[in-house]
Amino acid sequence: MQTSWIPFIPESASTVSGKVDALYFYLSGVTAFFTLLISGVLIFFVIKYRRRTAFEIPRPIAGSHKLETLWSVIPFLIAMSMFAWGAQVYFENSRPPKNANEVYVVGKQWMWKIQHSTGQREINELHVPVGRKIKLIMTSEDTIHDFFIPAFRIKADVLPGKYTTQWFEATKPGTYHLFCAEYCGMNHSGMIGSVIVMQPAEFDNWLSGNASQQSPAVAGQQLFQSLGCVSCHGANGEGGRGPGLVGIFGSKVFLTNNQTVTADEAYIRESIENPSAKVVSGFSPIMPTFQGQVTPEQLIQIMSYIKSLQATGTPATAAPASKAEATPAAATATPQLNRK
Ligand code: CUA
Repeated sequence: MQTSWIPFIPESASTVSGKVDALYFYLSGVTAFFTLLISGVLIFFVIKYRRRTAFEIPRPIAGSHKLETLWSVIPFLIAMSMFAWGAQVYFENSRPPKNANEVYVVGKQWMWKIQHSTGQREINELHVPVGRKIKLIMTSEDTIHDFFIPAFRIKADVLPGKYTTQWFEATKPGTYHLFCAEYCGMNHSGMIGSVIVMQPAEFDNWLSGNASQQSPAVAGQQLFQSLGCVSCHGANGEGGRGPGLVGIFGSKVFLTNNQTVTADEAYIRESIENPSAKVVSGFSPIMPTFQGQVTPEQLIQIMSYIKSLQATGTPATAAPASKAEATPAAATATPQLNRK
């Protein structure tokens, strides 16, 4: 583990870490400047204007508009500069870029379970390539955790029943600390791990060395059939009782209550766990809830399968699989025939 040239400041190893540090130094600098100025002036005045005789009466002060304006406007401008700069860094940090590689993170007492979109799984380790944007899609199986990589200056709560995201682009190969930063029970302090940043070629090598695992999209496709989703949500709407799901992810959905929602992770999750909350226009609220029947990991897999259902009908992220599951259309048609 490398150390930084300033004590107590972790290594700076992502595209945002320099910006976060600059803002932090600015805040500390302003604070230090005024602390020193006020204490210095205070000590100086205490000595200079000390009472010299027992019955001394000071000259009254009438006040000054000029002075009052000055000491209102200057702090206002300083405060606004902190706000504007902070907001700019915050926006950049909290909006994952569209072209980022997705990595799923599931927190659980007391470990981090990580799965890459190509299927590789890791526990308490996250391998990433240097210079590529990585988006973390995070959820928890039990209580509130918090995924914190100090060297990247990123940190976000990981909540049960909800997805949170954060992103980074590592700039320096190396091994960095990964912490749980929310007290989550007895072994909270042991819920730590490493982020291993590798050269892209080295990373691809690592990825292919672990390639035997099933991608989340393919696992999701199997769940889609075993849970019976396919009988209503056939790939091309064959089921008829539920809306078809091809190309649905990220699109706008028109609801029975005349509202429109975007079919994002939160909407799909809600539709699985509480299907009658937002029913698509033209359909009846007949879908049973799957709350408690799918684990957070399985939910991620189903999500990932639905995401992979592009208009062409071919899972985008599916690893090369057997011919039978090469296209979801073929795979989903078969069980439906069996069912009838
Ligand atoms: Cu998980 Cu603290």
